[in-house]
Amino acid sequence: MSSLVIVGAQWGDEGKGKITDFLAERSDVVIRSQGGNNAGHTVVVEDNEYKLHLVPSGILYPEKICIIGNGVVLNPKAFLEEVNSLHEKGVATDNLFISDRAHIIMPYHVTLDILSEESKEEDKQIGTTKKGIGPAYMDKTQRSGIRVCDLMDREVFRRKLAHNLEEKNIILERVYGVEPLDFDQIYEEYLGYADQLRGYVRDTSRMAYDYINRGHKVLFEGAQGTLLDVDLGTYPYVTSSHPTSGGVTTGTGLGPTAIDKVMGVVKAYTTRVGKGPFPTELKDQVGQWIREKGHEFGTTTGRARRCGWFDAVIVNYAVRVNGITSIAITKLDTLAGLERVKICVGYEYKGEVIKDFPASLETLEQCLPVYEEMPGWGEEITEARTYEELPVNARRYLERISNLCDTEIGIISIGPKRTETIVVGEIY
Ligand code: GDP
Ligand code: IMO
Ligand code: MG
Repeated sequence: MSSLVIVGAQWGDEGKGKITDFLAERSDVVIRSQGGNNAGHTVVVEDNEYKLHLVPSGILYPEKICIIGNGVVLNPKAFLEEVNSLHEKGVATDNLFISDRAHIIMPYHVTLDILSEESKEEDKQIGTTKKGIGPAYMDKTQRSGIRVCDLMDREVFRRKLAHNLEEKNIILERVYGVEPLDFDQIYEEYLGYADQLRGYVRDTSRMAYDYINRGHKVLFEGAQGTLLDVDLGTYPYVTSSHPTSGGVTTGTGLGPTAIDKVMGVVKAYTTRVGKGPFPTELKDQVGQWIREKGHEFGTTTGRARRCGWFDAVIVNYAVRVNGITSIAITKLDTLAGLERVKICVGYEYKGEVIKDFPASLETLEQCLPVYEEMPGWGEEITEARTYEELPVNARRYLERISNLCDTEIGIISIGPKRTETIVVGEIY
């Protein structure tokens, strides 16, 4: 048995798509276990760029099995559009499967996500992707959600949709004062999707279990990041699922013994899109410089990402809560050209230095980063292919991060392409 979880160790967009695609070559199966089309995973193969939202980042290898697990919330329209755009680019989806237990994102989820955000004052907004993710997970935990298996049965779907829509329309009309949604329109639209989805639907827990037992190599592709986890992140400025490694088991229908190793994907600095605290955020010229050099604009929403220095407190926390066994550091190339680089090694809170990431946002907001400064490296590094080819100051930076975060580095990424990757440790 050999399996590896890929988890975002910061606030998402760490480069999980690139690392998953890179490691998919040596894997047999790639599985998504949570989130939905709020994710935007970029994979660059030679001159082609693919932006994947729901489809696992193993899809570019025709022989790999790709699974959308039961923990994912699936927008059928978004899924079919993504599949069609892959077909147009000549990418086959014959090996793509969807769990019959995944919950479906309905039009009212998207509408409620938008209305809930827009009805709040700016400082109370979460800054969601407005894809209906939160409302869909709310229905799931409220036990009224509609699952893929329900959509496959016209009568069950009719009954559940009628019940849900009645309730949602009351909220739309009475709370938000907008027009109710039309049953027939949604029913017909979704029955059309049902026909197109049917061929992809499987008991994916059984599939994954069998692949693992037959000795196949399985990669679990995380979406979002540790600090967006609904339990372990900067609540309430989080997503509504479990992007941490714990979410992999319930989100795929496998037990924890199915996981061998956990790789944390970490950007060489920190970014965040959406609202919420961010201790090492740079609101100055350096932040702007990193944003431009690193093209830090959201893959899903196009929003400018907030940028800041590397925060070892949060990555250290991510190592602990995910059981990370090694890290992949991405976008090290972006920092080339800075005279000095900083690493946050602790937070100053009420005159003391703390090293554990606090639960309370009020505490976090009062935390001041304690920085260690290191000399930067002037030369571009995208052409490097071995660790030794990296400038000595870049190597020192990596070694300090590995040391502070108490974990080994397995991969160094120095550009978006597959070839711009240096493997320095045993992966799986
Ligand atoms: P994900 O959501 O974690 O998959 O990350 P995104 O795809 O949203 O954002 C990462 C961005 O950085 C994408 O545009 C990638 O193509 C790009 N990228 C990934 N790794 C590297 C790297 O090492 N260097 C550079 N310059 N870009 C990278
Ligand atoms: P990938 O997989 C970065 C953020 C949103 C918002 C919060 C809640 O590409 O790393 P949601 O729509 O999920 O209810 O929004 O979570 N967010 C992400 N930020 N990368 C992502 O995915 C994200 N998915 C959601 O910006 O702050
Ligand atoms: Mg992304």
